Formats: sequence, structure tokens, C-alpha cells
Amino acid sequence: TNVEWDAVTAEKGGFDHFMLKEIYEQPKAYRDTMRGRIDESGSKVIFPELNLTEEKIRSINNIHIVACGTAYHAGLVGGTAIERLVRIPVAFDVASEYRYRSPLITPETLVIVVSQSGETADTLAALREAHANGAHVLAITNVVGSSIARDADDVIATLAGPEIAVASTKAYTSQLIAFYLFGLYLAEVRGTQTAEEISHIIAAMQSLPEQVEAMLENTDAIKAYAEHISNHNNLFFIGRGVDYAVALEGSLKLKEISYIHSEAYAAGELKHGTLALIEDGIPVIALATQEALLEKTVSNIKEVKARGAEVMALSHEEHVSSLLKSVDQAFAIPKTLPLLTPALSVVPLQLLAYYASLARGNDVDKPRNLAKSVTVE
Ligand code: AGP
Repeated sequence: TNVEWDAVTAEKGGFDHFMLKEIYEQPKAYRDTMRGRIDESGSKVIFPELNLTEEKIRSINNIHIVACGTAYHAGLVGGTAIERLVRIPVAFDVASEYRYRSPLITPETLVIVVSQSGETADTLAALREAHANGAHVLAITNVVGSSIARDADDVIATLAGPEIAVASTKAYTSQLIAFYLFGLYLAEVRGTQTAEEISHIIAAMQSLPEQVEAMLENTDAIKAYAEHISNHNNLFFIGRGVDYAVALEGSLKLKEISYIHSEAYAAGELKHGTLALIEDGIPVIALATQEALLEKTVSNIKEVKARGAEVMALSHEEHVSSLLKSVDQAFAIPKTLPLLTPALSVVPLQLLAYYASLARGNDVDKPRNLAKSVTVE
């Protein structure tokens, strides 16, 4: 009826789609997820809601991160950050595989399940498998009354607000924030980072919302690029380190709503097979935000360029001019610490998927064959 239609229009708050509205809500979601979890001096992370004792934190000898889809991709970034900050080995599993490989879970294992909805059947089953083996389970979820939140021993709520679009955006980035905070908290308790290092990372995190705002101010160039790629049926995302994790997320987002086939590859892995698919004019999106890996990524860019690919690179402003010697187009993201770049670099990729879907005339918020919450295995 008209009444319902008006209600939905009003909920979109002036945006054409929920997905776009949710992309623009990210600065607020970052702030809300950080609020109350950083002490007033800005030098320490606090988690008053956690049952996890300091003694328990000191006894953890490995971490499993288990989730599906976009939440899994957030886990890849989050686990990498934890491993770097805390030096505890981290293993990653998609939830639909986890319990079938008889994972080695002990009471010293911390299992982190990640789920926007808190209702994903496989993630819930993974949580139960972890409990059956005596592990402590921490859930990172956006729905505090959900099944996963209820069953977990501890919950870190992402405060992204309701996410309506099937394609997850602000939930993913809020999960990143939750992971960074939790990683810093573990580092404080276990003494693996100095107070200066922790304050430095917190300060960089506190700048992220404004940096996202700056990126969202003018999206014309990414929109034009999206319209261009909407005429293609195949493309590739490449990256190294956390750029590879973001490439996976960018690729999933694009497939999910634009129906353009894409693959995300660890840049160095291309020459082990996939390079055979690179032909004249194929778009390659290269994430090149990790300074320590830049030279290596550039040599992978050259490999695809030499086979005719049309390359778009995503990097920091200071590298754009030198990258333009090897690529066709480059977009700059604001400068932050290497570990935190996913919280910025994913934003243009979300917009890319959105505008490519729009250009193809798809139902952006409700892509075919997909449900917002997957409650069947
Ligand atoms: C994200 O764009 C997808 N719709 C999907 O991969 C989703 O992230 C996945 O189904 C997991 O959902 P959850 O976070 O609610 O558990």
C-alpha cells in the first residue's frame, strides 16, 4: 500500500537505497562502536562488558575466528591485526567448514564468532562446536538479543544500528573497529605493545570517522568508474596482506549486487594459474595501500598490464603519481596506519558495487537469490 511505501521512503532518509544510506552512516557507526570503549585520556581501551578475566586472557594460546561471507572477511582483517598486536596464533574458518574439519579446540582456545545478524545457522553451529570442546566464545555481533549473542560467553556489540540492505557495509566496518579495539585490549593485558604504541593506534582510529566523511564528500569519480566497469562481465581484484582481505570483500560486494563475475587474488598468487585469464581490456582493481608491500604489488600490476589488463589502483595520495606510471587510473584514500587501512579502503569498493549495480538496473537492496539472514545450513 501507499502507506507502507511512504514509510520505507522515510526510513531511507533521503537516500535512494538502504545500502547507500548505510554506507553514509559509517562515520557514525565507527564513533558509536568506539564510544565508551576508550578511556578519557585516549590511551587505553576498556571493555567493561566483558566476562573474560585478565587471567583468562593470559592463558589463551590460540584464537579461531569463524564467520560467513562479509563477517568472515572482517575476521580476516581483525585476526591479522590481533596476531600482529598480540602475537597469538590465529586461524580463520568459514563457519560452514569449521566443525567438519575436527578443529583442534582446547580450553585455551578463544573462539571469536562474527555475525551481523547473530542468527546465521552455520556460525551458531560453530559456536556450539567450540563450547562442546571447552573453548571460551566471544561473539562480535550487531544484534544483542540474537541467538549467537545469547549463547556466547562474551559479546562485543557493534553499534552500527539496523542494517537493512542485504549487502553488508556498516556492519563490516563496525566489526573492523570492534576487532581493532579488542586486539588493543588483549595487547594491553598481555603487555605486547607499549603504552605509546597503543595511544598512537587509538589516535589513528579516532581520525577514521572524519576520514570516511572526507571520502564520502565527492564520489563522482568512483561512480564514473563503476559505470565503466558495469559494461564488463569479468574482473579481478588483487592485493597483498590486509589489502588481499579487502579485495575479497570488494569482490563479494560486487558479485552480490551487480552480478558481475569477479575474483579476488593474493597478488603474488596470480602467476600460479590465474594469470592465464588476463586478456586484453579486462579490468583489474589493485589495492596497494600497504607501503611495506608496495614494490611487490607494483610488480604484480606490471604482470597484468603486460597482458593487456586495464588497471585501477587504490592507494594513498603520496603514491598515486608514481603508481600512475604503471596503471590506467588511481584513487587515493586518506592516510592512516597500515593495519587500519581496510576501514578506509573498503569504502570506495562499497560505492563501486553500489553504482555498478545501479547502472545495471538491479535491485540494489534485495539482490536475487540472497537473504539478509541465512538461518539454514
Ligand atoms: C554480505 O554482504 C552478505 N550478504 C553475507 O555474506 C553476510 O555477510 C553473511 O551471510 C553473514 O551474515 P551475518 O553477519 O549476519 O552472520
